[in-house]
Amino acid sequence: MAFNRITAAEAASFISNGETIGLSGFTPAGTPKSVPAEIAVKAEQEHAAGRAFKINIFTGASTGQSCDGALANADAINFRAPYTTNKDFRTHVNNNEICYSDLNLSNMATQIRQGYLGKVDWAIIEACEIEQHGDKAHIYLTASGGISPTICRLAEKGIIIELNAFHSKNCMGIHDVYELENHPFRKPVMIMKANDRIGKPYIEVDASRIKGIVECNIPDEARAFKDADEVTTTIGQNVADFLLSNLRSGKIPASFLNLQSGVGSGANAVLGALGQCPEVPNFNIYTEVLQDAPVQLIRDGRVLSASTCSLTVTNDCLKGIYNDMDFFRDKLVLRPSEISNCPEVIARIGVCSLNTAIEVDIYGHANSTKICGTKMMNGIGGSADFTNNAYLSIFTCGSTTKGGAISSIVPFCSHIDHTSHFIDAVITEYGIADLRGKCAMDKAAELIKVAHPDYRPLLQDYLHIASKFKGHTHHCLSAAFAMHDTLRRKGDMRLTDWSEYLK
Ligand code: COA
Repeated sequence: MAFNRITAAEAASFISNGETIGLSGFTPAGTPKSVPAEIAVKAEQEHAAGRAFKINIFTGASTGQSCDGALANADAINFRAPYTTNKDFRTHVNNNEICYSDLNLSNMATQIRQGYLGKVDWAIIEACEIEQHGDKAHIYLTASGGISPTICRLAEKGIIIELNAFHSKNCMGIHDVYELENHPFRKPVMIMKANDRIGKPYIEVDASRIKGIVECNIPDEARAFKDADEVTTTIGQNVADFLLSNLRSGKIPASFLNLQSGVGSGANAVLGALGQCPEVPNFNIYTEVLQDAPVQLIRDGRVLSASTCSLTVTNDCLKGIYNDMDFFRDKLVLRPSEISNCPEVIARIGVCSLNTAIEVDIYGHANSTKICGTKMMNGIGGSADFTNNAYLSIFTCGSTTKGGAISSIVPFCSHIDHTSHFIDAVITEYGIADLRGKCAMDKAAELIKVAHPDYRPLLQDYLHIASKFKGHTHHCLSAAFAMHDTLRRKGDMRLTDWSEYLK
């Protein structure tokens, strides 16, 4: 049986109003690009003809402009989960035009399996190769694992393959495809070290479920990184100093920990800086997103092996990996998100998590997702998967943003994704707030030390005001958001008069 070659527009014509598509990919890496863009075109045509057309989207994590952006702008999305980084999508979410469910990424495939999100109609999968073996098809994924095995298995109407020639067939073999069993039959995930392999290099499905193959040649919609600057370089150095002092004191094992590092320019720069620090031993990475800096560290021999869900790298970096697959093959493994972010594995192998916060409050709670408590930024991603199970969980952030108008250390987070129970340290360019073994009030003293000097007196003022309310954590509820409120009214958090918040 030969697979049916179709155009992206023909594939889009399969998708009906109200249906749910599950997409390969995790970040724009490995996400199908031509079919989602054609679904957006179809949505516009349907709307112009006066017909309703909205779909539901399940993904591994964020996608790119041709998917989240185009579909959001075409008013084609009813419901979507989980993480996203697309600016247009974010605008529509914050205008309440899209139902957006922010989930821990390790849990996405499980929630689909449990039926919490409804059924999947179609799986749309980017592949670098598809092979037929009797009545089975072997799908070789591209730059990420995501939720692909689960949606391929569960898609009721079938699977559409985007065979993207941009991704070299050299990457066949980079994936370790393994799916968790349903409860109560779930088995331990037997990964003992970052580059252990426990699955197959491809997804196997009944060949009859492949409803069409769309050939294309489209680069990943990689985002460029902001260059490391003085702030991110200093944070990186502070992280390195913190890890070294923990090594010397025996708080982390001499063999070191597996590192996880979050998304974004800050995380990329921090990991780069860490690799440059000669006293930090060579290390392994167990993470969900591998960016450019750690790929270079693998080449340099500083990173010994890396487990990740996606290669969220620039296209030059990706091509470099594909060209050097003989070098990377035993050092790099791509996994489905429920395995790359598996709490059981993370807790067992010993991970140091490094994630970026939008804001952290003086008692050590962190906000990763919502600007001023209301506007969705990206979503929680895998930050809780790693933070909550890490041996050592670190949050980093610049002490201020928007030219100093916003402090990242605040009296009370305007939204909380990570509670202080899970956060061991917060690191800014002003130093390290080591929160381990401290009571709430000592955490506050430690965190104010790493705030920007402009904001330290304000945070001290707040503590002084709050002290009269006593309690385990001192808070004055009418003033807890005074800095946020001042930002809302004046465009800057540096308030000069607390009195109006004390009436
Ligand atoms: N108030 C308003 N805006 C803020 C802010 C705050 N307290 N903190 C950050 N921002 C803005 C920045 O100004 C910047 O805006 P710009 O794009 O207009 O320049 C933007 O948020 C991104 O911040 P930046 O400092 O460049 O950091 P980043 O690229 O490292 O991203 C997060 C930071 C928190 C948005 C990002 O790490 C994230 O999405 N985290 C949640 C998911 C996660 O942790 N995943 C990793 C798990 S493996």
